[in-house]
Amino acid sequence: MTTTAVTESSTETPLVHVEGLVKHYPMRAKKRLGGRREPGADAQVVHALDGIDLQVRQGESVALIGESGCGKSTVAKVLVGLVRPTGGRVRVGGHDVVPVTTHDPAARRRVQLVSQNPWSALNRARSVKHILSQPIVLHGRASGKEAVAQRAAELLEMVGLPPEYLSRRPRDLSGGELQRVTVARALAAEPDVLILDEPTASLDVSVKATLVNLLSDLRAELGLTYVLITHELDIARHLADRVAVMYLGEIVESGSAEQVFGDPEHPYTRALLAAAPTELVIGRLHGDGLTGEVPSAIDVPTGCRFHTRCPMVAPACTTETPALQRRPDDRVVACLRIEELVGDNAPGTTTGRNLT
Ligand SMILES: Nc1ncnc2c1ncn2[C@@H]1O[C@H](COP(=O)(O)OP(=O)(O)OP(=O)(O)O)[C@@H](O)[C@H]1O
Ligand SMILES: [Mg+2]
Repeated sequence: MTTTAVTESSTETPLVHVEGLVKHYPMRAKKRLGGRREPGADAQVVHALDGIDLQVRQGESVALIGESGCGKSTVAKVLVGLVRPTGGRVRVGGHDVVPVTTHDPAARRRVQLVSQNPWSALNRARSVKHILSQPIVLHGRASGKEAVAQRAAELLEMVGLPPEYLSRRPRDLSGGELQRVTVARALAAEPDVLILDEPTASLDVSVKATLVNLLSDLRAELGLTYVLITHELDIARHLADRVAVMYLGEIVESGSAEQVFGDPEHPYTRALLAAAPTELVIGRLHGDGLTGEVPSAIDVPTGCRFHTRCPMVAPACTTETPALQRRPDDRVVACLRIEELVGDNAPGTTTGRNLT
């Protein structure tokens, strides 16, 4: 898909600037009996990301939403350097982090990841003090035993845990406490940007709200910038200023949280929101809005990738690839039929347009 800039028309330099990000995972074909691989099968790739543009300004919180497998975690992994993309560029604070031109630990330090599963993210054999001290030392945020220990205690306090927890091990902590330690560990690097990849997915309902409030407070106190990935739209509503909706490796709509949640325009966004109206858990609830399975990321549909499931599909959608277009209210949408669909007499449009 040809994309245009995905944020509002601000002239301010974005803190995180992603341009044309592509990630194709190579497929290794299964061996047939006799040890030979299917001819040509190795040439297949998984289209995890196909030209993602994203700009995140200092202090902003942007949510990436979409069904399972659309590429959200791949964006997160590229941003923190865990996955090397096939193409595209990522700049943080004006420094290139992708492609890696020079070894610049400062640019890397500025972006930290909090992932879904604290049990696998933290070293179970080590104390919380050790877990927090490692990044403090690695990123040169303090030196000397006492200063490092003091900083570790400060980090715990920031996430609402008492200093006694320094001597505990992951197995002594509850899920919510563990996720707080994961957040503290990310903060140890003193980052500007936190990538939150389903930070509450492993937590009980009662604990989720506490973590969301903590993340919200930390952002305000520390002036942090968030890229939030979540299946739970309530959480995106709480934490995000802007929302980018992904489908099969592409962004199909992006705008303010008010625009996207209050008045979705792309047929996919509408279907996604209709599929789970309240505590939306995308991809786990199925309603009238979204039918059928997501097509294979190996053999992506021609034209608009959503055309196989789109209730508004027209013949052109099967062959023409829609580019992201800026709408009058400054959001961007990639749909060939957008003018017709959101016009006054559009078929099947929502009645709740309230942002014009
Ligand atoms: N290491 C890998 N090798 C091959 N394919 C991969 C690899 N990692 C991810 N993929 C594929 O890339 C696509 C995007 O995956 P990704 O994990 O980014 O999706 P996601 O939106 O985070 O999904 P979920 O909501 O389930 O976490 C999927 O088709 C996935 O199967
Ligand atoms: Mg994921």
